[in-house]
Amino acid sequence: MSVAAPERPMPATDHSASAPVVVARDLKQVYRISRGVFHPADHLQAVSGVSFTVMPGKTLAVVGESGCGKSTLARMVSLIESPTSGELSLNGVDVVHASPQQRHALRSTVQLVFQNPFGSLNPRKKIGTILESPLEINTQLSNSERAAQARAMLGLVGLRPEHYDRYPHMFSGGQRQRIAIARALMLKPALIVADEPVSALDVSIQAQVLNLLADLQQELKLAYLFISHDLGVVRHIAHDVLVMYLGHAVEQGDKKTLFTQPLHPYTQALLASTPGIVGTGNSKKRIVLSGELPSPLNPPSGCVFSTRCPHVTARCEQERPTLRALDGRQVACHLAEKFI
Ligand SMILES: Nc1ncnc2c1ncn2[C@@H]1O[C@H](COP(=O)(O)OP(=O)(O)O)[C@@H](O)[C@H]1O
Ligand SMILES: [Mg+2]
Repeated sequence: MSVAAPERPMPATDHSASAPVVVARDLKQVYRISRGVFHPADHLQAVSGVSFTVMPGKTLAVVGESGCGKSTLARMVSLIESPTSGELSLNGVDVVHASPQQRHALRSTVQLVFQNPFGSLNPRKKIGTILESPLEINTQLSNSERAAQARAMLGLVGLRPEHYDRYPHMFSGGQRQRIAIARALMLKPALIVADEPVSALDVSIQAQVLNLLADLQQELKLAYLFISHDLGVVRHIAHDVLVMYLGHAVEQGDKKTLFTQPLHPYTQALLASTPGIVGTGNSKKRIVLSGELPSPLNPPSGCVFSTRCPHVTARCEQERPTLRALDGRQVACHLAEKFI
């Protein structure tokens, strides 16, 4: 049997600390919205050119209000949707131009954990079966080898061996999220994309699941793309932070820099509305967001944040600021120097 050579050579999986797990450049996702047969379709830019890198063992948190494009970004990075344009590579493999075989191989490199631990587990399957199903599909392991790996994984996520034979309804929300995390880890991924993974859990349980994610990251050198609307949650787990507004990256950099001295008025507002975070002592930065988020179908023509920004100028309404390096991070604001 002859197999056509893939168009691009597949680099060996590189787990050295120096190679990024994810490299995204100018990723865009545009949805076509039909308005009926007699009207031209609208185009909705859900993600408008976002770039970032995630290293092994590190967490990039993506934050912003509902509708800013976080889940769309998650779907692109986890290979559920192809970007409309832009570049994306996972473990050095160009995802956009990958052959079907390469894409298939990449599916085990990235795994998703969703917000709702009640909807994401099949209620008719025992936990053991749920954990073994990715192995059944993607590996040649025997029944007993699969069972051994599933049982070992239960221990790794803080569950007990006897849980193997139980059904999802017998578990609490926090335990179910541990099961979802265990399932995501069965194929030894390099990257976990977690879309609001603790938002459905009680606050007391959130901390336990975040601690588990942090422990697993250390032990397995996992990279996380961690999506949350809640900066209080992000504070515990992020190394780097990407702040999105209406599909645009408005500020990104390491957590300490953004949390201690946010330069974008939107980051400042998000931090000010999160209890117990703002500690800069600069009361000028304590702004409160008012007004509605504009529709992504009809975004403001200048700065996307201009309709809600307390510092808005005429220039902001006309000219969209580009993301630029300033004071140790990237920021898209004409007035950012003012806040240093
Ligand atoms: N499949 C889709 N078709 C059309 N519009 C979509 C689709 N998915 C998301 N959107 C729109 O894209 C924008 C971003 O959505 P989403 O990525 O879900 O944001 P978030 O996760 O930050 O709440 C929203 O305006 C949403 O309505
Ligand atoms: Mg979402």
